[in-house]
Amino acid sequence: MSLNNEVIKCIHERRSTRLFTEEQISNEQLDALLDAAIWAPSGGNNQSWLFTAIQKKDVLLHLNQLVRQGFQEWVPDDDYPSKLAAKQRSQNQSYNFYHNASTLIIASNKPNYQNAMADCALALQNIFLAAQSLGLGSCYINQLHWLRHDPQIRAYLLELGIPKEHTICSCAAVGFIGKASPVPVRKEGTIQIIR
Ligand SMILES: Cc1cc2nc3c(=O)[nH]c(=O)nc-3n(C[C@H](O)[C@H](O)[C@H](O)COP(=O)(O)O)c2cc1C
Repeated sequence: MSLNNEVIKCIHERRSTRLFTEEQISNEQLDALLDAAIWAPSGGNNQSWLFTAIQKKDVLLHLNQLVRQGFQEWVPDDDYPSKLAAKQRSQNQSYNFYHNASTLIIASNKPNYQNAMADCALALQNIFLAAQSLGLGSCYINQLHWLRHDPQIRAYLLELGIPKEHTICSCAAVGFIGKASPVPVRKEGTIQIIR
C-alpha cells in the first residue's frame, strides 16, 4: 500500500481482542472512547443512540449470568453458526460473553429507526479505532443484541438506565490486551473498481 498514514495504519492493525488483562482503563481513556462514539456519522444526524459504559465488575458478572441463562432458554430460530456456538459455549461455567474485558459499552438506539444498527455500528468502529490508537484492545460483542428481547436481561438493562423501548444494537468490549489475536487473511475478489 503506497499511501500510509496513522489512521490507515490504525485500521490495519486493529484486531478483535478476546483475552484481556484485569486492569481497568483510565477515566480519560473511557472518555476518549465515548467521545469517539458520539462523533460518528448518523442517518439524518439523528444521534438517537445511547452508549452505556459498564465498569462495575458485579454488574458485568450479573449480566453474564443473565446471558448464560438467556441462552439456556433461547430456542434457536435461525441457523447463524456463531449464535448457535455461543449457546453451546454458554453452558460452560467459565463462559464470559464479553471476554472478561474490564469495560463493556452497550450501544442502544431508538426503536423503529431504520438506521439504528448502521449508526451504532459506525460508532462502534470509532470506538475500536480509538482504542487501537490508545494501545487498548477491543471486540464487537453480539450477545446482548441476540438476546435483546429476553425479559430478564431487559429488566436488568432498564435498571441500568437503558430505556425499555430502546433496541440493543451492539456492544464493545474494551480493555488492555492480554494476548494478541492472529491477523485474518483478506478474502480475494471483494473489491472491484470501475473507472
Ligand atoms: C457484526 C459483528 C458481530 C461480531 N460479534 C462478535 C462476538 O459476538 N464475539 C466476538 O468475539 N467477536 C465478534 N465479532 C468480531 C469478528 O469475529 C471479527 O471482527 C472477525 O473475526 C475478524 O477479526 P478482526 O476483527 O481481528 O479483524 C463480530 C464482528 C462483527 C462485525
